[in-house]
This record gives sequence, structure tokens and C-alpha cells, in this order.
Amino acid sequence: MGSAAPSPEPVHAGTTGGPWQAHRAEMEAAFGGNAASYDAALPFFATIADRLAEAIRARLAGPPRVFVDVAAGRGALAEAMAARCPQALTVASDLSIGMIRAAPTGSTGAAVHYLQADAELLPLRSGLADAVGCSTSLRLFVSPAAAVRQMRRVTRAGGVLGVSELGPSDAKWGFFGDMLRRQLRRAGVRPVHGAGRPQALPDLVTAGGYTRWESFEQTFTFEFTDELHWWEWVRSQSQGHLLRELGEGAPQLREAALRVVRDFRPIDLHQTVRFLTALATHQ
Ligand SMILES: C[S@@+](CC[C@H](N)C(=O)[O-])C[C@H]1O[C@@H](n2cnc3c(N)ncnc32)[C@H](O)[C@@H]1O
Repeated sequence: MGSAAPSPEPVHAGTTGGPWQAHRAEMEAAFGGNAASYDAALPFFATIADRLAEAIRARLAGPPRVFVDVAAGRGALAEAMAARCPQALTVASDLSIGMIRAAPTGSTGAAVHYLQADAELLPLRSGLADAVGCSTSLRLFVSPAAAVRQMRRVTRAGGVLGVSELGPSDAKWGFFGDMLRRQLRRAGVRPVHGAGRPQALPDLVTAGGYTRWESFEQTFTFEFTDELHWWEWVRSQSQGHLLRELGEGAPQLREAALRVVRDFRPIDLHQTVRFLTALATHQ
């Protein structure tokens, strides 16, 4: 990226060690392996990212010059920000090279610059960004606290942070997680990629150097045309990776799950999401 100089700051050296190496492999399998179809069956993450972009834009005093999307996937938040702020330099970074390779090119007309980077070790100059965002990813990191400190380092004083985290969805979908876990156990597959640990966002961002946080919750309704549409969506998410691991057990799970979902009327998903924006403290 042209405008970003190498960071002069000491950053923790851990991202090459055991847990980080395992994490990188997990994320590549779970997300990079699905990148081409990620969020394609239903704009799940894109809908959430669009709402986060709106919240970040509302918190900014004026149009940002630089916006950074961290753990951007295929750039849902970056693209939503670029559509709102086409004059900004928008950077989207993700750990998974598969995701970065599958990122769209120029869909909004505003350039988004994609780079592979660990959220815990952002190769971006301190104070570069007027706003930094991270949508539905914090709970996956080895150290969410280290990632927030990196985001704070990259945000200029007074700049904006926006984050979102998945909350609960309707109880009727719990059956599938149970079925999947049972099948994985039976097949001797130990899921390496779980749902992650939910994060207490206010504490996390305050400890990381942000202040004046504002938080709200929103529940989104996603409708599937039929049970096959729902299955296509499941396969396109990170769970698709677990289904691939199941191998021969996958068709059996598919049939059992489709039998349950066929009876849902309507086949819809209510997903609660927590959003938080905050300002970078003057240090
Ligand atoms: C649930 S997806 C969300 C992606 C994107 N923010 C969106 O809304 O579509 C989680 C993303 O976090 C990325 N990720 C996981 N750990 C990461 C890390 N340590 N650094 C950067 N990205 C990471 C994954 O590769 C994946 O693309």
C-alpha cells in the first residue's frame, strides 16, 4: 500500500508461534477454503457490515481520508464504507490469503486496497486512519485485546472505531449445531474452528485505548427460499469447512438437517448483532 510506511512500533512477536500458526491454518481452512462462495447464498455478513458502516459514518465528524477494515474477509465493510465515502483511501486486511484473493475488484467504483495481514500485527503506520472497523471477527482472534491495541495504534487520536459481534439467533436453529457436533464426534473430527468466545466489547475497547463508546443491538431477519437455499448458505459459511471434514458423514447429516428445516414455516433466521463505536483517546 503506497501511503502506509512500515510500522516503527514494537509489536508483539508472538504471531509466528504455536497458537498463531494453528490459528492461521484454521482460518485459511475455514474461510479461505470457502472464499469463492462466502456470503454468496445470502448477504448475511454484508448486511451486518453495511449497518456497521452506517454507524461508523454517523460517528465521524466528516468524510474520512483513510478507512481500514480489519479481518475484512472479502471486504464487506470496506466496500460499504467505500460506497459511502468514495474519496477515502480504503484498506481491507485479512489473515486469509484465500479471502484476499477472492475479494471483489472495483464493485463500488471506489478503489479498495486489499492486503493480507494479521489483525494482531497490522503492517500500517500509526495514526494512519480516521476510522477503523472490524465486523463479526473479534471473537475469532487468538488475542482480541492485542488486535484492539493494534487498531488503536493505527487510528489517529480522535478517530473512530466501529465493531460488530454476532449475538444469539433463534433457538430453533440450535438443532443443527447439536447435529453437527454429534456427527463430528462420531467421525472423530475435532473441530478446530469454533464460534469463538463472545467478547465484552466495552471493556475490550476501553482497555485498548478507546473512549466514549456507544453500543446498540439490532436483530436482522434473513429468509431462505427453501431448505436447499438454507443448506447452500450453511455450506458457504465457515461451517462448510466442517462439513468437508465430515466426508462420508456429510450426506447423512444433510438429509437429516433438511428433514427438520423443511418443516420450518417460514424458513427464516433472526440474528441479533451487537454494534459498538468509540473514539480513539488522545495519548
Ligand atoms: C466471520 S468472517 C468476517 C469477515 C468480514 N469482516 C465480513 O464481515 O464479511 C471472519 C474473518 O476473520 C478473519 N480472521 C480471523 N482471524 C484473523 C486475524 N488474526 N487477523 C486477520 N483476520 C482474521 C478470517 O480470515 C475471516 O475472513
